[in-house]
Amino acid sequence: IITPVILSGGTGTRLWPMSRPERPKQLLPLTADATMLQLTAGRTGDAERFARPIVVANARHADTIEAQLRDVEADAQALVLEPMGRNTAPAIALAAIAAGGDSTPILVMPSDHVIADADAFRAAIAKALPLVEQGWLVTFGIGPESPETGYGYIAVGDELAPGVCKVRQFVEKPDRERAEAMLAAGDHVWNGGIFLFRADIYLGALSTYQPDMVVAAQQAMDKARREGKRIYPDADAFAASPADSIDYAVMERAERVAVVPVSMGWSDVGSWDALHALSEHDAGGNACSGEVIAIDTENCLARSDGARIAMVGVRDLIVVASGDDILVLPRGRSQEVKKLIEAMKDR
Ligand code: GDD
Ligand code: MG
Repeated sequence: IITPVILSGGTGTRLWPMSRPERPKQLLPLTADATMLQLTAGRTGDAERFARPIVVANARHADTIEAQLRDVEADAQALVLEPMGRNTAPAIALAAIAAGGDSTPILVMPSDHVIADADAFRAAIAKALPLVEQGWLVTFGIGPESPETGYGYIAVGDELAPGVCKVRQFVEKPDRERAEAMLAAGDHVWNGGIFLFRADIYLGALSTYQPDMVVAAQQAMDKARREGKRIYPDADAFAASPADSIDYAVMERAERVAVVPVSMGWSDVGSWDALHALSEHDAGGNACSGEVIAIDTENCLARSDGARIAMVGVRDLIVVASGDDILVLPRGRSQEVKKLIEAMKDR
């Protein structure tokens, strides 16, 4: 039986103004009535194959996370509440220890991705499981569409088992030139950011490449405060951990790494443009939600959680209203929300 581990530590700043520190992207209903966290938990609802999830998150979100999971009857077995973010490698170490640190397979999932075809996802997991039991670290590969520099790239090697291939090389966040070369080579997939491995194998790999992280995570868990399902790792012990992602700390370096290429309608919903692309559109190509009136408007994304948005005679715009904030930008430039966040810090 597989233990799902849901990572919910991100802040999702590129989806400002809907996504905010107190309610980041994964806790919002962006692509459906359910929030992204609820959709994530729903993918591993089959109790014959999956244990109840372990959620690793920032302590400030504990109440919201518990309430959202209860709403969809996907209560967590444990909530590991980090005193501060140390990126994904230490967060996964906490979860691996919470899962028992033994040969239990853990499925690490970001809480903020869309997977349209959950059956394809579960089929990919089933293919990987025999190799996972033998000690392989497995990741899931997505057919690349553009030379994105915000993803990891995987050079797909020989087949180890039906549908499961050895990773020849794992390249986290390449520069543009290298991303273009890998796309042109045609034998690379994007890393989907979802991992399947035994808890003990992960902790062993981390001990090899980042021993201080394992020591810090173990001490933080040994001294943790527990309140029912809630686990508060010791702040001083966890603060001593180096901060790094699993991709740099382990996946780029480890030996026995495999990939399951899978076509499952994956998107990391990293920007308003990405959300526009995967939303349902009206006849004019607009994706609207909330109180929106649009006349002679084409290919726009308009979303509001309160204020009324009224648009006439515009095309290719993104308009998002949330609380007292309104975002307006042309489609194609939503990566630049990051710049706005920076600019607003100084105000
Ligand atoms: N609990 C916890 N604590 N969760 C965290 C932390 C942390 O300190 N930092 C990040 N997360 C969560 C985020 O919420 C997200 O769900 C997931 O871990 C991945 O972190 P990101 O920061 O979004 O990673 P990324 O997008 O830069 O890169 C990863 O995902 C790409 C696909 O979306 C990498 O795995 C890439 O290789 C991959 O292509
Ligand atoms: Mg991400």
